[in-house]
Amino acid sequence: MHSFTEARDFFGKVSPELLAERYGTPLYVYNEAILRERIREMKGILKEDSFTVNYSIKTNSNLSILKIALEEGLNADAMSPGEIHALLKAGFPADRIFYVCNNVSDEEMLFAIDKGIMTSLDSIAQIRRFGRLNPGGRCAVRINPGIGDGHHKKVVTAGKNTKFAVAENDIDDAIRAAGEYDLKIVGVNQHIGSLFMDPGHFLEALRNFLSLAERFSGLEFVDFGGGFGIPYRKLSGEERLDLNDFSEKLTEIVCEWRMRNGVHILIKSEPGRYIAAECGVILGRVHAIKNNFEEKYIGTDIGMNVLVRPSMYNVWHDIEIYRDGRPVDDSHGSEAVTVVGNICETGDVLAANRMLPMIKEGDLVCVLDAGAYGYSMASCYNNRLRPAEVMIGLDGVDRLIRRREELDDLLTLFP
Ligand code: LLP
Repeated sequence: MHSFTEARDFFGKVSPELLAERYGTPLYVYNEAILRERIREMKGILKEDSFTVNYSIKTNSNLSILKIALEEGLNADAMSPGEIHALLKAGFPADRIFYVCNNVSDEEMLFAIDKGIMTSLDSIAQIRRFGRLNPGGRCAVRINPGIGDGHHKKVVTAGKNTKFAVAENDIDDAIRAAGEYDLKIVGVNQHIGSLFMDPGHFLEALRNFLSLAERFSGLEFVDFGGGFGIPYRKLSGEERLDLNDFSEKLTEIVCEWRMRNGVHILIKSEPGRYIAAECGVILGRVHAIKNNFEEKYIGTDIGMNVLVRPSMYNVWHDIEIYRDGRPVDDSHGSEAVTVVGNICETGDVLAANRMLPMIKEGDLVCVLDAGAYGYSMASCYNNRLRPAEVMIGLDGVDRLIRRREELDDLLTLFP
């Protein structure tokens, strides 16, 4: 079995064992070189000058990662006042932030309006609310192109079974509602869902989206969203998304549309996972091994509070095992095991019935592709402490970019 982290020199000048000793486990570790590489790939998907990549920071909003995104010239999309706050703190100017919210209160809308942040409205009710608060203002409207895609039904955000966006048959009413408050709809956006490896549905949705966009006049931008997948089964040879082929098709559709509708219209995108997933891993320690009936359990400190994706969506993350600073391969045999965490739920499963090399207590488990929707979805369930985050810089040196929570952090909110 080949080791991704070793082949990519993921840990630079340090070893997983050293990191575990220095910072404790569980631990999020990021590699700056991979992060920058993925950002640059995304910047190249549209062969056009008037194109921005808005990093979707729900994926990973660590301030150090945001600063690198800014340095690389990305804009950003935010989903909440908390995400806007983090972006401003990281140094993003207001005009490089796009607030793609849904079902928000007056207070949350005013938070963005007061800062001059462009807001995307996701229903006629929210258009009216925005109009009452900011008559004559500028805004965007999120539209549903009728086709969704994604790795799980919970993350498909267009088509018929979703709360998001304004459907095609409501577009005229949405435009009318905006007119009642003199709002100028200067942008339209879509996001059809998260994680496609075959861009067929995305491109079909894009064509629908662009044709629906023609119902709006005075557009300054269109934003086709994110959703670009990464290979979560890279250890068994899963292919990457073919970005060259995708980019050619995307460029053709978008350029043709702009020729007909106005070459000045800015094109935006909102990738999250593609940028942040592969630059992050989680290191955890094996604390107990046992057999319960037919099943062998590997008990680790990577609970569902640290990484919720496997228990929430039943998804796969590749796993590598490290011992004494070196990856363990299957030359001494392998067996099917169930890797679990330390949370008080039977669903606290990181990997079920997974073939892995023979594991011993004290080994380190390294969960790949954990940079996206990893820490950002972590919690303090069971009053567990959220882990620290470390960045391996371009110089190969480790740097703490968020400290581990401490017991007293669990008490800070009590009066
Ligand atoms: N734009 C909007 C409006 C979104 O809602 C999302 C993700 C994105 C962009 C970025 O999508 P990406 O490029 O990362 O696919 N927690 C799930 C994924 C939820 C995605 C939510 N929205 C997971 O762990 O797979």
